[in-house]
Amino acid sequence: MSESHRIYFNEKAPTWDSLIDIETVERLARIVERLGIRPGSVVLDAGTGTGVLLPFLRQAVGKAGSVVALDFAEEMLSRAMEKYGNESITYVLGDVTSTPFPDSAFDEIVCNSCFPHLQDKAAAAREMMRILKPGGRATVCHPMSRDAVNSLHRSLGGVVGNDLLPDEGEARYIFEQAGFARVEITDAVDGYILTGYKPTAS
Ligand SMILES: C[S@@+](CC[C@H](N)C(=O)[O-])C[C@H]1O[C@@H](n2cnc3c(N)ncnc32)[C@H](O)[C@@H]1O
Repeated sequence: MSESHRIYFNEKAPTWDSLIDIETVERLARIVERLGIRPGSVVLDAGTGTGVLLPFLRQAVGKAGSVVALDFAEEMLSRAMEKYGNESITYVLGDVTSTPFPDSAFDEIVCNSCFPHLQDKAAAAREMMRILKPGGRATVCHPMSRDAVNSLHRSLGGVVGNDLLPDEGEARYIFEQAGFARVEITDAVDGYILTGYKPTAS
């Protein structure tokens, strides 16, 4: 875990929501809709922040499903909790690269605007593989293109200045090495989406 990142995001927590505009929220809603998450699914929001994705995930899983919101910055997590409460959502303080969850716990993992910040991306992909159910899906997404994500982080500089979204070949390699199948990447102005599936036992 990167302590400097944890401190950085805790400091950002009070003003985080003011940085998320309507267009971003609408893009995220469309990304979740496009994923077609099944009602009844158990979904992990990995790096939930203040929980911008939580209402969309909760709506997608319905009353029969559940959402777990994970973040290592307690200030982010407590704001998500204040905003969205406990109905169908559990909040967990922890690291995406080394989670407290048992094997095969989730149908879906959605990691929005967090993957570039993970210092050991291969370890994160392996952890996602471990905690997904066979046939489950991991999604890495952003409400903007890869180029825009990387330009934004470079322009911010400091702790996050080198937190980059890998190019297609490297991203594919990371997820395939972790054991993911059917790794697909779409990269457009209004969003970046990488998906990969945990193979079912043969
Ligand atoms: C850019 S914010 C995005 C938050 C939220 N997903 C959103 O779209 O608004 C990245 C989040 O990932 C969290 N994060 C970064 N590295 C993490 C790690 N290794 N484990 C857990 N959370 C992490 C940060 O604390 C922060 O809340």
